[in-house]
Amino acid sequence: MAAPESTARQRKPNLEPRIVDVTDLTDEDEETPLPPPKKIRPIRKSKKHLRVEEEDDYSPVLDVFRVLTFLLLASCGLSYLVSGGESYFWGMKHRPDYLKLSWWEMQYNGPRSFTLGELADYDGTDASKPIYLSVGGKVFDVSAGRKFYGPGGSYHYFAGVDASRGFVTGCFREDRTGDLRGVEEMFLPIDDPEIDSHWTAAELTKKKADELAGAKKRVHDSVQHWVDFFQKSPKYQFVGELIREPGWEGELKVLCRKAQDGRTYRALPSTESA
Ligand code: HEM
Repeated sequence: MAAPESTARQRKPNLEPRIVDVTDLTDEDEETPLPPPKKIRPIRKSKKHLRVEEEDDYSPVLDVFRVLTFLLLASCGLSYLVSGGESYFWGMKHRPDYLKLSWWEMQYNGPRSFTLGELADYDGTDASKPIYLSVGGKVFDVSAGRKFYGPGGSYHYFAGVDASRGFVTGCFREDRTGDLRGVEEMFLPIDDPEIDSHWTAAELTKKKADELAGAKKRVHDSVQHWVDFFQKSPKYQFVGELIREPGWEGELKVLCRKAQDGRTYRALPSTESA
């Protein structure tokens, strides 16, 4: 059964232009479906409107607070890293080497050479200058130990000089010199005819030679101990070498009283190995 003509026209769109006389409109033309009506949404506040309201709430104090909090946290983190975990607030007792001027000078210029006169300028009496001391001819920046080496400190005698002799003898005031001649005496036993009669003359000569070699080694080791102490200390910085003119030692020094008093008699053969 063939479909009625009006239904067939609805299914197949007629692509040919058609001139329609509006007076001629029939009921079938009025049935053409209209697009569905647009839904009417309830009126809401636009985003722009909200933004304006947010801008009204904006407070610069809050932003400043945020920035300050960020800076504080960043500073704490950086301090922790730089101090190797020692402090969050830059309260480092021992600054890393790269935060010291002397370290950068060393990297750039290499070790400096100091005469005794130049070294004397760094004895801590001028607070604007670093404090240097020398031991075994090596010069160290000991500014981080100002309480020891600065004026009034218990080891101020070591500042601005090479006091290797004082480092060994413990006579800080008298022995502010690097002259080590005769210091080994402090490690030598006192001669005593009664005690020494326990050895033959040949044995005693040999014994004294061994004692002298041992005493010289102790002096050397004692100086080296302090060189190593300053070299390895995270507080202090090696800055250079001392240069001394020939004959700088001057007159031969007498062993200081304190070092003399520390000497003992030769141990008797029976007690020697004990
Ligand atoms: C040959 C003898 C001595 C020498 C050469 C000597 C040297 C030194 C030096 C160079 C320092 C400073 C360390 C630093 O820079 O950190 C020091 C610290 C010190 N010394 Fe001596 N010293 C001697 C004997 C003595 C004696 C006999 C005593 C005790 C009666 C003593 C007690 C101290 C004390 C308490 C400190 C401070 C330690 C600290 O707070 O870290 N020293 N000594």
